[in-house]
Amino acid sequence: MQIHSAIPDLRAALKNCGRIVFVPTMGNLHAGHISLMTQAHEHGDTVAASIFVNRLQFGPNEDFDKYPRTFKDDCEKLEAAGVDVLFAPTENDLYPEAQHYQVDPPEIQNQLEGQFRPGHFRGVATVVLKLFNIVQPQVAIFGKKDYQQLMVLRNMTRQLALPIEIVGGETVRAEDGLALSSRNGYLTPAERSEAARLNGVLRKICAAVLAGERNFPKLEQAAIVELDSHGWKTDYVAVRQQADLQAPQPGNPELVVLAASRLGVPRLIDNLEMRIIRHA
Ligand code: PAJ
Repeated sequence: MQIHSAIPDLRAALKNCGRIVFVPTMGNLHAGHISLMTQAHEHGDTVAASIFVNRLQFGPNEDFDKYPRTFKDDCEKLEAAGVDVLFAPTENDLYPEAQHYQVDPPEIQNQLEGQFRPGHFRGVATVVLKLFNIVQPQVAIFGKKDYQQLMVLRNMTRQLALPIEIVGGETVRAEDGLALSSRNGYLTPAERSEAARLNGVLRKICAAVLAGERNFPKLEQAAIVELDSHGWKTDYVAVRQQADLQAPQPGNPELVVLAASRLGVPRLIDNLEMRIIRHA
């Protein structure tokens, strides 16, 4: 695996590499990230990954300084996953001057995650557009674990006519259902066994909707009460339409339930897609 931090070196390494599939990350890699790398091989000739902890997408009270940086370990995992080229810029490589030109996503950036992390999606969209311009991939893969991020980036790519196919990767989970995340490392052992409840309440909501329940606020409220009575501090549980993450229109069968809640130190997010099948 080639590793480059300077933009000109990376560009030179990616010349004449055929169809490039790009998987951006912030490092501290786990099996969820690696599943995207494995999937990447099916979509092109050269797999390029990036590791960059992007200051722009962290709020002032978030964990930018404490975000786990495990570069050597990450490189071994990427090498084992057959990644061809790793772009690992320093802050000075990517932001040599203050990034005044930024991508301002539409109103959805202020809902769900955005309501609790103001400016987050602006930071994500800006760094991803910049990484796209540097790597110039034909395909880019993002996890459904960050469902709203995937939607914002898909829409950005379409609306700005970027010649890039966006692929969504399924969420990789621990055996008890907890979605793998770098932030799970902050859980105490007791919190770790409690943490699967987040996926549990989402599954309950999906089961209820598939059984015919349409009172979404009631389901959302019951989930919040269950979580918070077990020590969680829930930001939101929301049933939305998959396509635009707006409130479900009657008859739309493609829904997703999303949640974010704090358990001890870490704030965990998860979501589950569901498809309502109508019987004649
Ligand atoms: P990061 O949190 O490192 O995630 C990198 C990619 O891995 C994202 O597309 C994310 O959705 C995916 N991912 C995380 N956990 C996963 C899991 N359990 N199963 C499957 N995929 C998973 O998301 C970011 O970085 C940043 O916002 C980034 C897009 C790199 C921009 O800075």
